[in-house]
Amino acid sequence: MIEPIKWKNGKIVFIDQTELPRKLKYVACKDVDILCEAIKKLRIRGAPLIGVAVSLGYALACLNSKEKTLTGLKKDLARASKKLRFTRPTAVNLFWALNRMEKKFETSRLGLWPRSKNIVRASGASREHKAVITQIKRIILKEALNILEEDKLMCIAIGKNGARLIKNGDVILTHCNAGILATAGQGTALSIIYEAKKQGKKFKVYADETRPLMQGSRLTMWELMRNNIDATLICDNMAASVIKNKGVTKIIVGADRIAANGDAANKIGTYGLAVLARYHGIPFYIAAPSSTIDKFIKSGEDIPIEERKPEEIIYAGSKQTAPVSAKVYNPAFDVTPNGLISGIITEKGVYEIKGFRRI
Ligand code: MRU
Repeated sequence: MIEPIKWKNGKIVFIDQTELPRKLKYVACKDVDILCEAIKKLRIRGAPLIGVAVSLGYALACLNSKEKTLTGLKKDLARASKKLRFTRPTAVNLFWALNRMEKKFETSRLGLWPRSKNIVRASGASREHKAVITQIKRIILKEALNILEEDKLMCIAIGKNGARLIKNGDVILTHCNAGILATAGQGTALSIIYEAKKQGKKFKVYADETRPLMQGSRLTMWELMRNNIDATLICDNMAASVIKNKGVTKIIVGADRIAANGDAANKIGTYGLAVLARYHGIPFYIAAPSSTIDKFIKSGEDIPIEERKPEEIIYAGSKQTAPVSAKVYNPAFDVTPNGLISGIITEKGVYEIKGFRRI
């Protein structure tokens, strides 16, 4: 299986997803600013993968720091964390991962350098300080690699839990890319498809192209075809007639943030699919790790929705497809209200929305 992100020889190596499907290009990155640019430009994208990327970015900042004191290192890390936090606003995995990294730094700092040590002689203190900083750098890198490895296991668990819902003859519609390219493992929504295939189930998949950045046609089709899934590409505006005329039996998508009441933000166009599912009487599932659930946000109304540049709509690639000065509205995500969601598939099980009860 391809790895959209990994840690190799002190660098973050990632697939530049803006180059797909034409080119499978790996980029080696040793600089937090370059990583931030890659997340903003969607070279690295997908909620769980963004979470993994920022934790590796935090570790990179820690290893790159030339500071000789814990106070200096703490300042360097706070600066890096701030930059990473400003890359994209919707995927909560980004904030979840950075909170976890910051907590790890704080607990190891306080564990290895209790306040009482501040009274030791200055020369001895600086030698000891150096040893503690080296130890903290090791702990922080280990924590980022733990997040990466846990993501792989989480993907498999989501896949296995969701595959129980797949029946022979199913016709599944998906949107955007919630697959291998969106995680450090085998995806969330698409992990279910890969696990069902492993179990020998026979089904078909339709993939929405996902305007304006085409994550469905560029990324989902690319990875489903590489993994021998019976997949057909459609334009977003074909979804209603494909559901009606091609017998779609379920819709499965990912999520960027799920509020405490189960409202779920995902790639723009998802809400429309949930409405279509209700009209046609088919189930609509969200597949996401529990790190995508934001229990501090009561409902979808409070989920910050990223608005992106007009150019993404005015141009299709390099071709101009609208007047350059056209007034444009370009939200990257929408919110599906909990009432339209049949179930949330996480690594812990499948839950219906009412009180997040397991089903
Ligand atoms: O803008 P993107 O490509 O980062 O949006 C990605 C999605 O909307 C995915 O469906 C979501 O992050 C879940 S990925 C497992």
